[in-house]
Amino acid sequence: MVTVVVATPLEPELVERLRHVDPRLEVLFEPDLLPPARYPCDHAGDPSFRRTAEQERRFEALLGRAEVLLGFPGEDPRQLAEALRSAPRLRFVQAMYAGAGQQLEMARLPRAELERIVWTSSSGVHATPLAEWSLLGILALTRELPRLLADQHERRWNRRPVEEVRGKTLLVVGLGAIGREVARLGEALGMHVLSLTRTSGDLDELLPQADAVVLTLPLTAETHGLLDRRRIGSMRRGSILVNVGRGAVLDEEALVDALRERRLLGAVLDVFVHEPLPPESPLWELDNVILSPHMAALSVHENERIVDLFADNLRRYLAGEELRSRIRTDLFY
Ligand SMILES: NC(=O)c1ccc[n+]([C@@H]2O[C@H](COP(=O)([O-])OP(=O)(O)OC[C@H]3O[C@@H](n4cnc5c(N)ncnc54)[C@H](OP(=O)(O)O)[C@@H]3O)[C@@H](O)[C@H]2O)c1
Repeated sequence: MVTVVVATPLEPELVERLRHVDPRLEVLFEPDLLPPARYPCDHAGDPSFRRTAEQERRFEALLGRAEVLLGFPGEDPRQLAEALRSAPRLRFVQAMYAGAGQQLEMARLPRAELERIVWTSSSGVHATPLAEWSLLGILALTRELPRLLADQHERRWNRRPVEEVRGKTLLVVGLGAIGREVARLGEALGMHVLSLTRTSGDLDELLPQADAVVLTLPLTAETHGLLDRRRIGSMRRGSILVNVGRGAVLDEEALVDALRERRLLGAVLDVFVHEPLPPESPLWELDNVILSPHMAALSVHENERIVDLFADNLRRYLAGEELRSRIRTDLFY
């Protein structure tokens, strides 16, 4: 038997689905030991939750039996390091976040611990909501939706022709699960799509060619500050920047300057250097920014999709096959 411990809040029917993946699996789920979810698909759960001493003992005993874990306990890198001390049998961890590589890096686990376990992220499950959001943002700014909503609010009848996205050049930076879906939707809208990955494409060459740039990058040592002031300065005048990857991939101050000076048409941001975005951030009040509180990937279908991915990975694990969305422990993505 392979013992699977669910260490994240999860709907009971999805736990049942896991129980039916294979008779060789024993799935343990004790919701009273986990922080309660505040909203659907809340992986971290209520931060004010504390286990009693008795619950803590039960939780450690549960971890002690785990060969497979779903979710980083508490979604907190420090808790992950602690949990591993109670889990000597652990061999495979399926994280709930696509950017789990970053959490794993922050846990600062010894190399032996990192290598003993196969780590997988939920990369792949957020492609639809983030691609929809990215294209919504590009369409909204191109078609002047913020101006129209302001006019409507003021009861102003203000007619004038606006731009179209068809025929425009879209640069997708990072062509993983999210990037591929952004590219597919961009092509469907008649955009000319350029892209780059870690190993192919030259950002400095491609950036000045794009009317819209969508960043779908993980935060790694290599991508931190990748879109710096010089690169933002090299973007086409009147272009649009979308960031759905991680905030620290770009220089936020340089972006604010480019938006204030209207060198860029606008920005669509779901992720920020500091989250929650501080109230004093100028990004809140710029009229050419559309922002969302790191929620563009939140979808009512998220847990279901993660469980589907995990179920497939469990079958692969039992069959000794390569797992999907594996986190590289050298680059942490
Ligand atoms: N806004 C949100 O709530 C939210 C939700 C989900 C994910 N995310 C973020 O989005 C990221 C991507 O998710 P995904 O599911 O698309 O991941 P993925 O499938 O792993 O794709 C990542 C892509 O980034 C590329 N990349 C990595 N390092 C690079 C570099 N230095 N230069 C250029 N490209 C680089 C990879 O290149 P290769 O193909 O060469 O490996 C790959 O194409 C996640 O890591 C996470 O941080 C955000």
